[in-house]
Amino acid sequence: MTTGLWIILDHVVALLTIAAWFAAGVTLALRRTRPALAVLVAAVLVTLVRVATVAMLAGRGWWFVQEKVLLGLPMLGAAGAVAVLVAGPQLLAARRGRGDVTAGGVVSVLTAAYAALAGLVVTFLVGYPLTLSTALITTSLVCAGALLTGRVVAPAVEDIAADAAVGQAPEGRRAISRRRFIGWTGGAVVVTAAGAGTGLSFLPAESVTRGGGPGRSSRAAVSVADLRGSGSPAAGGTVRRHVLTAKKATVRLPSGREIDAWTYNGEVPGPAITATQGDLIEVRLRNADIEDGVTLHWHGYDVPCGEDGAPGVTQLAVAPGDDFVYRFRADQVGTYWYHTHHASHVGVHKGLYGTLVVQPRGGQRADEQSAAEQVDLTLPVHTFDGTVVIADSDGRTEHPASPGTPVRLRLINTDSDPHRIVLAGTPFRVAAVDGRDLNQPGEVSDVALHLPAGGRYDLVFVMPDTSVALVLDGDRDGGLRLRPLGDVPGEARIEDTSDLPELNLLRYGAPAAAPFDTRTADRHFTMVLDRGVAMVDGQPAYAQTVNGRGHPAIPDQLVAEGDIVRFTVVNRSLETHPWHLHGHPVLILSRDGTPSTGSPLWMDTFDVRPGEIWEVAFRATNPGIWMNHCHNLPHAHQGMMLRLRYDGVTTPFGGSHGGSPGHGH
Ligand code: C2O
Ligand code: CU
Repeated sequence: MTTGLWIILDHVVALLTIAAWFAAGVTLALRRTRPALAVLVAAVLVTLVRVATVAMLAGRGWWFVQEKVLLGLPMLGAAGAVAVLVAGPQLLAARRGRGDVTAGGVVSVLTAAYAALAGLVVTFLVGYPLTLSTALITTSLVCAGALLTGRVVAPAVEDIAADAAVGQAPEGRRAISRRRFIGWTGGAVVVTAAGAGTGLSFLPAESVTRGGGPGRSSRAAVSVADLRGSGSPAAGGTVRRHVLTAKKATVRLPSGREIDAWTYNGEVPGPAITATQGDLIEVRLRNADIEDGVTLHWHGYDVPCGEDGAPGVTQLAVAPGDDFVYRFRADQVGTYWYHTHHASHVGVHKGLYGTLVVQPRGGQRADEQSAAEQVDLTLPVHTFDGTVVIADSDGRTEHPASPGTPVRLRLINTDSDPHRIVLAGTPFRVAAVDGRDLNQPGEVSDVALHLPAGGRYDLVFVMPDTSVALVLDGDRDGGLRLRPLGDVPGEARIEDTSDLPELNLLRYGAPAAAPFDTRTADRHFTMVLDRGVAMVDGQPAYAQTVNGRGHPAIPDQLVAEGDIVRFTVVNRSLETHPWHLHGHPVLILSRDGTPSTGSPLWMDTFDVRPGEIWEVAFRATNPGIWMNHCHNLPHAHQGMMLRLRYDGVTTPFGGSHGGSPGHGH
């Protein structure tokens, strides 16, 4: 069973626990002693089951259970034990017709119910890490609930007692004064603890984490504004100049459907930028009428930091009427894409994206025929309000290819959710992931590929003499068809692809030496991803959090040039988080403790699915201040975004990043 399923099961058992304790409390208050006893026993049993599910989850990682083990279960355990000790004997006695359930019995059982509820609320609203502040506030609230319940329940019980035993007034008075005493001192303790907890939560947090490495040095500062790209191409290279104007436009898709898009140059996707390795890419970005402002971020391309297009960090967002020139050498071969990085959850979704493909300089791929003979298709996938657009067309795309031709399909996921891709009709290889070639990728067929948001796969094969179909998310009518030339266009039969197993890239291809020692790291950062209540851009929100915080209150990760940096990324939530670091690909070390044993796998966006734990590493060789975020762009907007900062690098472009319009410029 996956950790994600254990998390769900644990939530279900937690809900049952709450229901059982409340049911026990209510039946008890109603003096239904027979059912009350049964329900109490059930509450105890389901609580024990909960202990088991938490223990199972603990085996998957401390991050999944910390608040449950340190707060939720101890609270419930203590309250539950008291409830059993107080109410249990009363119930047994009542069943034999000797005595009755007291107010104390009812209150103790209901308190266990509050403790169970509080534990689950902490899991959902706070999560990891548990703080002293949370623990104090939560226990105070449970105690306050117990005291208030006592105030409500006790008088009712008193009435019954008074009816039953007229003339025992002194007893009653003593009980009342004892209760008053408990009420006042208890109230005072609860208020003090809650106050202390609240106060603690306002303590300023660390703004930087060092990951076990040294802190900031007194190194002379360099500004990201000075970390700019090279002014000239490599010998033999050319300058590839483009002007991209961001503007609103109504785009007519091939099906006739019109979309109100935000575009580069009125096109969706924006103009394809292509280059040959060593060329200089120079793009002037203009903003015609996108009020929020725009930038160009070169997703997966390790440009110098000043060219990275992160507003509020590497530049200011380009306002309407303004422009900005990006310039960098295309030294890295492969499939990439570009998109705005300002309010990107809106801008990219509406169409501010395009492709970047860099071909190797001649003769580097001896096994392939000349470019002219190849079918080389760049296929960004984007969804506009339910309409899937592949490259520039919605509906099915057809493409001719003569049998025997080498084909390369460059798939790019520009959406915020993963896509499931099946290539039917031919064996193929995954030649590259996120632009980087794999080592000896083997031929596969009848497998599905899981393409994370932001990710790219290059699929290669030799065109057979029958047609080939690219099926996206099981939609057998849409997608792409490659047809052999001369073949009568007819319906290629495509089987149901929903049962195909997913190709595990961690076991695909042949191993090769890593360029650095992956057993040690100079810095190690753990990022626990979850939902919770946190401040996002200065506002309280039900946020997407990293270690319990939202942007920009998540501490910057400090590294120094040359460091080997390791990330442990843990997903405690029930959503998928495509993790993306700017400026560096990361080498995948393991997923859920299972090491990567195939080709070295370098990714710039890796999907951390519910309950998964990924270990990745990279060497810090590209100085700057780099965004490090979830590439589900609405998640990033809801807080799941932080910065990796090199020692000695500063930014003059302070302010918020990519948040609400109007920030940072
Ligand atoms: Cu593709 Cu920070 O983004
Ligand atoms: Cu996410």
